[in-house]
Amino acid sequence: MGLHEETLDKSNVLHVIDEAVSALQKDDVAVSGSACEALGIGTAEWAACRDQLIEDLQEAEDWVEREDAIVQEVSDTPPVDSQDGPEFIPSHPTIALVQSAMEEQLAEPTSRHFNRRDPKWLSVLYHRLRTRARGKAPFPGHQQHEDFRFDLPERGTIALVSDWGTGNVHAAAVAQQISARNPDHVVHLGDVYYSGTPREVQRNFLDMWRSYGPPHARYWALNANHDMYSGGYGYFQHLLPAFGQPASYFNMQNRFWRLVGLDSAYVNHNFNTPQMAWLEGQLAGDARTVLLTHHHLLSPFRKRGNALEEWLDPYLTDGRIYGWIWGHEHHLIEFADYRGVKCRCIGHGSLPYVPPDRRRVRHPADIVRWETRPSPLQPSRGIHGFALLTFDGPSLQVEYVDEAGGTAWTERWD
Ligand SMILES: [Fe+2]
Repeated sequence: MGLHEETLDKSNVLHVIDEAVSALQKDDVAVSGSACEALGIGTAEWAACRDQLIEDLQEAEDWVEREDAIVQEVSDTPPVDSQDGPEFIPSHPTIALVQSAMEEQLAEPTSRHFNRRDPKWLSVLYHRLRTRARGKAPFPGHQQHEDFRFDLPERGTIALVSDWGTGNVHAAAVAQQISARNPDHVVHLGDVYYSGTPREVQRNFLDMWRSYGPPHARYWALNANHDMYSGGYGYFQHLLPAFGQPASYFNMQNRFWRLVGLDSAYVNHNFNTPQMAWLEGQLAGDARTVLLTHHHLLSPFRKRGNALEEWLDPYLTDGRIYGWIWGHEHHLIEFADYRGVKCRCIGHGSLPYVPPDRRRVRHPADIVRWETRPSPLQPSRGIHGFALLTFDGPSLQVEYVDEAGGTAWTERWD
């Protein structure tokens, strides 16, 4: 269930990449013949494909080396960031696509221990990597400010969960706990691993909700970096239609509250002009606005979201943003108010993480509290969970529920 341990193992993934580069550089008759057949191309065309593949894989290897050097430079304590933690989930498109290809290959009944020099495997790898050359899926934009605006119940519950698309045992446990609370809506703040391919959207996301999620809830999903590594086709063309969601940004509002989901991944860790033009038309009136994004503004472990803050600066200056909830970092964190905004990270949806430790903080961030308890399902890692928002007219309660059905803490936002 979930991501294969071979694809989560950093040295194994790097070894696979290394062997692929060697085999491609050697490019014997078996490799080129099989690749041409699988791809339906001639040898001259294959030569260009092969060179591109080698270049992409070597660029990924160089990136890992640079990241490793940075981590060692900044801190000599073991890294805590999930990006370089024990489970290898790097924020790099080529590596994520290699991992997706490995998952597909490992799922084949005949290739449980696939031969990494197998020309057919190299063709699978090429097929997966060349999705990057297709470019991004089209971005569905609004026609008028009223588009993508929905009713938020004045009395009701909404579950927010992020970085949940692994299909692993924690994802199942979290979904079961969401089900136990029977929310009206479930919003996923993004990341279907490894690269949001249609296959991964089906297996690690839609099938998991169908098996374990609340049957009567309406589902929503934000776009995220892993979803975009394969161009966002799985997210825009499979996931959104399955949820009946028209776009990657939306506003759910009532008289008192407004939940605005924004796409911070179509342009990585940034917003784009169409949705910012739309946002301007959403913030009128007295309702308090809570933003939902995949990417963070603040993080103790990664570079802060300066581009997001620049786009939102006028609203932050006017005090028009009440709260901001994000994921991406695989932790549960309450930050001190920033520019008057309540800032929370809920990226602890299902990806295993090492419980955070203040000695390992790499970037300044004013943290009020964070989740440090171990997971009952995997005691060497942190506990997973979600946020349950309970609206009662002007009053909002936020409970951070864990994968065992307990509560990390509860706050009132009113
Ligand atoms: Fe992410």
